[in-house]
Amino acid sequence: MCGIVGAVSKRDIAQFLLAGLRRLEYRGYDSAGLATVDSKGKLNRLRRVGKVEVLMEAAKKYPIQGHIGIAHTRWATHGKLTEINAHPHISENIVVAHNGIIENYKFLYERLYRKGYRCMSETDTEIIAHLVHWEQKQRGGTLAEIILRIIPQLYGTYGIIIMDVHNSNVLTATCSGSPLVIGCGMDANFLASDPIALLPVAHRFVFIEEGDIIEVTHCTIKIWNKFGQSVNRPEVEYFIKDDYDIESKGPYQHYMQKEIFEQPKVIKDTLKNRIINGAIIFPEFGQSINKLLSKVKHIQIIACGTSYHSGMVSKYWFEELVRIPCDVEIASEFRYRKFVVRKDSLLIVLSQSGETADTLAALRITKNMGYLSSLAICNVDYSSLVRESDFCLLIKAGIEIGVASTKAFTNQLTVLLMLVIYIGQIKGMNSKIQSSVIHAITLLPDYIEQVFSIEKGIANLSKNFIDKQHALFLGRGSLYPIAMEGALKLKEISYIHAEAYAAGELKHGPLALINMNIPVIVIVTKNNLLDKMKSNIEEILARGGNVYIFSEYNSGFIESDNIKIIPLFENIETIITPIVYTIPMQLLAYHIALVKKTDIDKPRNLAKSVTVE
Ligand code: F6R
Repeated sequence: MCGIVGAVSKRDIAQFLLAGLRRLEYRGYDSAGLATVDSKGKLNRLRRVGKVEVLMEAAKKYPIQGHIGIAHTRWATHGKLTEINAHPHISENIVVAHNGIIENYKFLYERLYRKGYRCMSETDTEIIAHLVHWEQKQRGGTLAEIILRIIPQLYGTYGIIIMDVHNSNVLTATCSGSPLVIGCGMDANFLASDPIALLPVAHRFVFIEEGDIIEVTHCTIKIWNKFGQSVNRPEVEYFIKDDYDIESKGPYQHYMQKEIFEQPKVIKDTLKNRIINGAIIFPEFGQSINKLLSKVKHIQIIACGTSYHSGMVSKYWFEELVRIPCDVEIASEFRYRKFVVRKDSLLIVLSQSGETADTLAALRITKNMGYLSSLAICNVDYSSLVRESDFCLLIKAGIEIGVASTKAFTNQLTVLLMLVIYIGQIKGMNSKIQSSVIHAITLLPDYIEQVFSIEKGIANLSKNFIDKQHALFLGRGSLYPIAMEGALKLKEISYIHAEAYAAGELKHGPLALINMNIPVIVIVTKNNLLDKMKSNIEEILARGGNVYIFSEYNSGFIESDNIKIIPLFENIETIITPIVYTIPMQLLAYHIALVKKTDIDKPRNLAKSVTVE
């Protein structure tokens, strides 16, 4: 979602700000802008609807310079997608860029209106600019002092950078519920909502804590906590692997396609040094966690979207393999209900980005509520979720740029299955089952490579979906969440309405939908539920439905006019089928989106990192 970059330097920073915005593009946005103050003290602002590229083109036509500036990519929340609503926003000498949502902005505007302020935009952000300006006019002080005074008036979430044209050597910032990081450079300091924006210029970072107020010049950094006390925050060195090469998709047409095909490699990365002498090892866990895990009698998983689906799969694994009851809940529901904490319950927060607003909020409200501990499973080691959880396990998917999550999902599943076995090892799991699951995990990269061989068949099928408005996905057991994931991928990138059901639910309603225009995608493996699935398929065929069956070669299905079979190889270990069967779902969604010519990597209305509710 929205991204912010700020810089104060001895040199011109306009090009750096634009490059920083490009590095934040993957998060999703719909307009972009920047504002700088030049050596003559003149404020320059440029904003455009659409891609950063459009802003860059505009910057060529209307060159913009300055040694201090802020830039922003906006994902519209309050106010339409227009240039006037794009950030930065201005109130005379005060310039503001903001991530998050100010929930009481209308109330604040009414008060400011009475004082003579008029908003040019429909955004909640412009209110912050006016509020700062009003405070400065009334009571004066530095921007840091002004922020400290106005913060109690702002309800919502925010990462804010503010610049004062009359004091153009300082950037001031604060955050609550929306991350900000300082990048320490040479004769320059930088601010951003995501360190990725700062990779070319900074390796030393200071992560801002909730409520901190910061003031940076080109050579100084000052930080105060939310009570206004001066504090030191640790400087950490991060040599983040710069694999965010926005020009390079290699031989692939889209990032999503690249990321699908990277899965065997990144699963190998995730497994590396974690399977030793036939046992799962997590070197990042110290000894203390083993004692804690030995006590676990319940697991509560919280996540959103695709991450929620991986949590759902792991519920089957936790309960089947180690007999630990597991509940999985969508973070946006969990955070607002009066939940009961089970005895000896471990909280697992699952998130690719580690910045998802609802998941982060859920983690925060569970503090001191009685969970044994919190464990983040995440792809981003410097994320808020990782920093705020008691323990963390990193998936090693590498940066994911396509908005539709692919490699992060299968990596989450891999780490979750390893965690199940790790807990099993502590709790005295049957050693034969343990070895067979670990063996199956090591086969994953090869299995996934093999699935790629059916891509051509899937691409051919995708043409059948070009005129379809709806699709139904069915699965049972641990493949039911994979049906949900398949439906989510399809709707996200092809805009076809897709629903997933546990196949046993068909008779309880969805059968009414069946006709020849609604393709039914069935994911079925050769397990104890195969015959049940066959009956479900008969029920669909009897009502004139068209079925696409993803199953192993020898599952006993025969192609006909209304049955298409997409065979995977034989005798795959049942426990890892959810991971392996995810790949054809990703390929199906990808190829359908390809024939429908949608914006696959940046589907409409969506953002990669959902940092607001
Ligand atoms: C869909 C997708 C989203 C995310 C969700 C949570 O392809 O990627 O549903 O899974 O927004 O994001 P994270 O995992 O970053 O918390």
